[in-house]
Formats: sequence, structure tokens, C-alpha cells
Amino acid sequence: MCGLRGLPQPGICFIAFHGKMYCFHSLVSVRSPPKSLKHSWQTPPSGSVFVSGTLSRTFGVEFVTVNQDADGIEVGELRHTLQQRAQQGLPPPKFIYDVVDFHNPSGVTATAQRRSELVDLAREWNIFLIEDNPYRRVRFRGESLPTLKSLDADGDLVFHVGTFSKLIAPGLRLGWIAAHESLIARLIRLKSDGGCSPFMQQVVLGFCQSPHFTTHVRKVQDTYREHRDRMLAAVKRELPGVQVAIPEGGYYLWLTLPANVNSDVLASRAEEVAVHIIPGSRFFPSEDETTLARARRYVRLSYSFATLDQIDEGLKRLGPIYRSLASG
Ligand SMILES: Cc1ncc(COP(=O)(O)O)c(C=O)c1O
Repeated sequence: MCGLRGLPQPGICFIAFHGKMYCFHSLVSVRSPPKSLKHSWQTPPSGSVFVSGTLSRTFGVEFVTVNQDADGIEVGELRHTLQQRAQQGLPPPKFIYDVVDFHNPSGVTATAQRRSELVDLAREWNIFLIEDNPYRRVRFRGESLPTLKSLDADGDLVFHVGTFSKLIAPGLRLGWIAAHESLIARLIRLKSDGGCSPFMQQVVLGFCQSPHFTTHVRKVQDTYREHRDRMLAAVKRELPGVQVAIPEGGYYLWLTLPANVNSDVLASRAEEVAVHIIPGSRFFPSEDETTLARARRYVRLSYSFATLDQIDEGLKRLGPIYRSLASG
């Protein structure tokens, strides 16, 4: 049900959570005392920068960023970063974080090779991996690739974080962590919220075990595939000169704009015509000028919630704003 079927995992266990933030707060707390934490955090870019902001403020977590290409997180660069930090006498990160399936916002799906390289590197350096995987079942074509958790041969390296938000409903506030039983035992000791509603868990479990679930997953996939294709066509029509990779699943299109179009400006003008898009600057944890200049070339569009007509209408409103910036 969680997309983790067939795991040959020693001692794998699950714990339920209200949502992503609860998961991350607990993971940060279980690993070491606040303030001393260092994370390797993937960019560009990461939707989870919304998380990183909160974790920095709440726990003083420091984020070290690593680039991503069309095959996933750049493991060679990550290795280099780890070595450099070691040479400088800096501690290794407490966690490596990645979204390997239909990354938010880039839409990138990590190749099988990148996944095993990442797990091997984490094993070599003995660093925990957080596999944040909310979109795994929202796949439009092809077969699912192995989760990082399934590549974790001893079972004690990867925390697989899942949620029902993207597949069933965000309002359920139901997610989980799959990890080694010894790690789950530590998470249980930290849990102070009285637990997730057992009633809701039973309702969701019943749904997942019923024949309706398979039909539902297919419907989600078919619906969002249609939305993605509609938005891709509208982007092509309305935003000439924009580059867009076609995601194999998930919720987002990640656009690269021509150098003279600033996505912060585009997003704020779009708001004036009631079109909500998210500029790249919202996804990069670092705020230095070089990073921001790069971030302003990107924008994230979401096709999940809008109807097909709204997708057409949104792009129809965005088109003239974009074209006037691009020609200006
Ligand atoms: C990378 C990532 N992780 C997790 C989630 C889901 O979080 P939650 O379970 O709190 O709804 C999202 C949704 O926006 C996301 O993009």
C-alpha cells in the first residue's frame, strides 16, 4: 500500500505521523541534540525548502546544498562536498535528504543507478538517508524504480517517509516513516502528540485493502496525467522560449525561463490576474545573490488542483505577461 511492497528488509517497522513536519521534527530530534545538526539538503531545488525554513528556525539546522541533474541528486558532487568538509575538519551531515520520485518541484525521477550510488555513498560515510517519497504512486507511465529503502541491505540506514496526502487527501494528515525497528523504537519514545488517530488509520487501511483502492490509484494517475498533458500543451502555446522537462509523475511542471525573464516579477504580476505560480527563489535554501540569480530562471506550475479549463485559462492569462517580459 505504501509502494514498499516486497521489501527484503531485516527488522522493518512503521510509525504513523500527522504529516511531513511531524516526521521531520522527530527525525531531527532522534538524531542528535538541536543546534549541532548539519544536513545535506538537495538543491536545486527542493520543495522541501518550506520544511528547511521551519527546521532552521526551530532547531537551528544548517543545510548544505547539492545540485541535481536529470538523473537525480549529483552523487559525485555530494561525495566531493563530504570530502571537502572532512578536510576542513567539519563534521559530516547528520542526514542526506532526497525526493527520488517526481521531485518537488523539479519533477526529476532519480535513475536506478543514481539511487544505488546514493545508498552506497551514505553507507560508506555512515550517514542516515531520509527518503521523502510523497508522490511515488502518482506515476503516469513505466514501472516504479526501487526505493532507497529497498536498497538499504542492512535496513538501518534509510528512513522512508510517506504520506497519504498526495494519493488520497491532504486533509487526512496521515503519513508514516518506515525504518529499522531500533530506530522506530527511538521515534516512539519521542512521540508526544498522543498518537495519530487510530480511527483514521483504520479507515485508511480499510480503503487501501479494498478493491476500490486499485481503481482509485488508477483514477488519480489518469486524472493527473491528463492535467499534466493539458498544461504542457498550454505552456507550449502560451510561453514560447520556455524549457520544460516532462515529469513521469507527481504534481508539478518546472520551467526554465529565458535569461531576461525574472520569475519573481512574473509570479507577482501573475498574482494580479489571480494566477498563482511559485518562483524558483522559494525553493532554494541559500539566499546569496548568485543562487538567487539562478533561482529566478525557474518557476513551478502545479497541475494537480486546477481543472482542465482552469489550466487553459491560467496559462491564457499568464501568456501575455510572460511575453511582454520576454520581449522587454
Ligand atoms: C517533498 C514533499 N514531502 C512531503 C509532502 C507532503 O506533506 P504532508 O504529508 O505533510 O501533506 C509534500 C507536499 O507538498 C512534498 O512536496
